[in-house]
Amino acid sequence: MSDRNLQSFPDKAALSRGACQRLVTLAKECIDQNGVFQISLSGGSTPQQLYQLLAETDLPWDRIRWFWGDDRCVPHDHADSNYRMVREALLDRIDADPATVFPVPVDTEDPAAAAAQYEETLRQAFAGQDYPQWDLALQGMGDDAHTASLFPETKAIDEQQRWFVENWVPKFDTHRFTLTANAINSARNIWFLISGDNKRDALQSVWNGPQQPAKYPSQLVRPDHPGLLWWVTEDALP
Ligand code: 6PG
Repeated sequence: MSDRNLQSFPDKAALSRGACQRLVTLAKECIDQNGVFQISLSGGSTPQQLYQLLAETDLPWDRIRWFWGDDRCVPHDHADSNYRMVREALLDRIDADPATVFPVPVDTEDPAAAAAQYEETLRQAFAGQDYPQWDLALQGMGDDAHTASLFPETKAIDEQQRWFVENWVPKFDTHRFTLTANAINSARNIWFLISGDNKRDALQSVWNGPQQPAKYPSQLVRPDHPGLLWWVTEDALP
């Protein structure tokens, strides 16, 4: 993929600053054009600095709708919760109106019902669309080449109809909640944020290895438009 759209940075702080500046510009353009900016947030640790920097900007918060691309099957106050991470890094600091925040309604007793409920939330937010046309979907990538909670050799990888599902992840012996590949690829802009030398081998496989999305799920992210952008620190570059 020599024509990939890549921005590389010396470290995560520089990546976060660059992504924050570009996200503010994109959000303001979308709000000017459509009155709203709808974003699918990634979890984990990489985007935390970006979220903290966003909180210091002058974005029109009431025009932004915050969704999650995936979450863990834990309560919202759990240390592993992606909702909690974003709330602490960003939403509490901007005093976000709860009406603009759409967390996954985690239910550890009935993950399938929780995933179906969130999918209904998405279908209402993106009514009339075949898949959710996010203005921006932020994606991370694990050192096993997963993205969102589409982990290697898991059922959700092959899901073609649903937008959002529960996904049993054997390596963690637990369910996760995740957008499906189609519901990521429908985004107008998709940004991978990747940092750390522990990601280099996975990125090499995703970019230059055989097309084996079951093994390298980040390969599933292949929108049919030029909106895919890779934000990568130099230590993660193959
Ligand atoms: C999650 C994320 C996941 C994450 C990758 C990378 O719930 O963990 O959404 O897809 O982006 O695991 O995580 P790090 O940024 O912590 O390396």
